[in-house]
Amino acid sequence: MRMYDLIMKKRNGEALTEQEIQYMIREYVAGEIPDYQMSAFLMAVYFKGMTEEETLAMTQAVAHSGEMVDLSGIEGVKVDKHSTGGVGDKTTMIIAPIVAACGVKVAKMSGRGLGHTGGTVDKLESIPGLQTSLSREDFFNVVNQTGLSVIGQSGNLAPADKKLYALRDVTATVDSIPLIAVSIMSKKLAAGNDCILLDVKTGSGAFMKSIDDSIALAKEMVAIGENAGRKTVALITDMDIPLGHNIGNSLEVIEAVETLKGNGPEDLTEVCVHLASNMLFLAGKGTLEECRSLVREVIANGEALKRLAAMVEAQGGDSSVIFDTDKFEKAAYQHEVLAKKSGYITFMDTESCGIASAMLGAGRETKDSQIDFAAGIILKKKVGDYVEAGEPMAVFYADKEELFAAAELRYQAAVTIEDEKANETPLVYARVT
Ligand code: URA
Repeated sequence: MRMYDLIMKKRNGEALTEQEIQYMIREYVAGEIPDYQMSAFLMAVYFKGMTEEETLAMTQAVAHSGEMVDLSGIEGVKVDKHSTGGVGDKTTMIIAPIVAACGVKVAKMSGRGLGHTGGTVDKLESIPGLQTSLSREDFFNVVNQTGLSVIGQSGNLAPADKKLYALRDVTATVDSIPLIAVSIMSKKLAAGNDCILLDVKTGSGAFMKSIDDSIALAKEMVAIGENAGRKTVALITDMDIPLGHNIGNSLEVIEAVETLKGNGPEDLTEVCVHLASNMLFLAGKGTLEECRSLVREVIANGEALKRLAAMVEAQGGDSSVIFDTDKFEKAAYQHEVLAKKSGYITFMDTESCGIASAMLGAGRETKDSQIDFAAGIILKKKVGDYVEAGEPMAVFYADKEELFAAAELRYQAAVTIEDEKANETPLVYARVT
């Protein structure tokens, strides 16, 4: 087999066989196929797409390039959840304990912040002492003991994806729906769960800005999951407005705790109820309506919050901060962002809100930057709210006062204020099965 022939085949719009795809991924990881040939192939996929059979074969090949986690050491059905990333997306910290409190195991590997989006691992690490890097044995023990564990993704999960993503990043081939589907699903298959719930975010703060693209991506990922023998469902959820009120690491943990106590913002609570009930549905806990009731019950009786505290404790963290969030370290400075005119907020460029939070120290500028766990934004007003000129729209938190000016410029430019209220948009656009 020659890579040249495979590039030509794809360039001409033909489908590759499973054997050809396996050869290509194996030889690329081994360093036998150079980056320039793989770049040409990726660009051909960008223009010609891939069939369902090809995306499945490529996902399996990428997944098998590294460790295929065997979760059989954990009893019962294991359900995973993946979010395509957003701003203020703290849903994992809420729904994993909810699902565990309903009797379904969650053994989850999460990522760090990327660009304008935050990462669950960074958020969890704002809890003093909590470890997100556990051996397989400790990971399984935490899940068996508490019903859930959320840790960082190990380096050997789908190494081919790491290499391919780095190449896509510099060859303008990131935003190809089949390549995104392969990238996400290869890691999900390798992580070893029985069921997968995909939260595909859509809107100005999401990777996929349009609903049509979000649905197309969801369909490809669900097909891969199902064809690979995993029960898979996707929800298309709104990311045209930041989720909840808090953006930033410990600020988001605090809001997650409030939501688990039943005091969370309506949008965040509603999205979490949808996600958690779909995870329970996938695990066979009943109809969607029955699963919704289970979710509401474990929030109301405090069981879900106790599960989060148990996980924190089992991963070496100080669980007292979960019961008393005032114990979280505070940012040295705070700054109110005032509305420049009166009217209704009709649009928030959510990506820019995420960037403003990162500029305050909540995100990384480079891969190796240190995160300031207490930095971020609390939104006082969101789309649909009325503001008076001079009224606070948001409060910024940072460890250095000089960070406020540039972040405020970015934030002010992201918020549109008009005389007429905008139409409300749904929180969940579609369910793809
Ligand atoms: N997230 C991933 O893991 N891979 C992509 O290609 C895009 C988003």
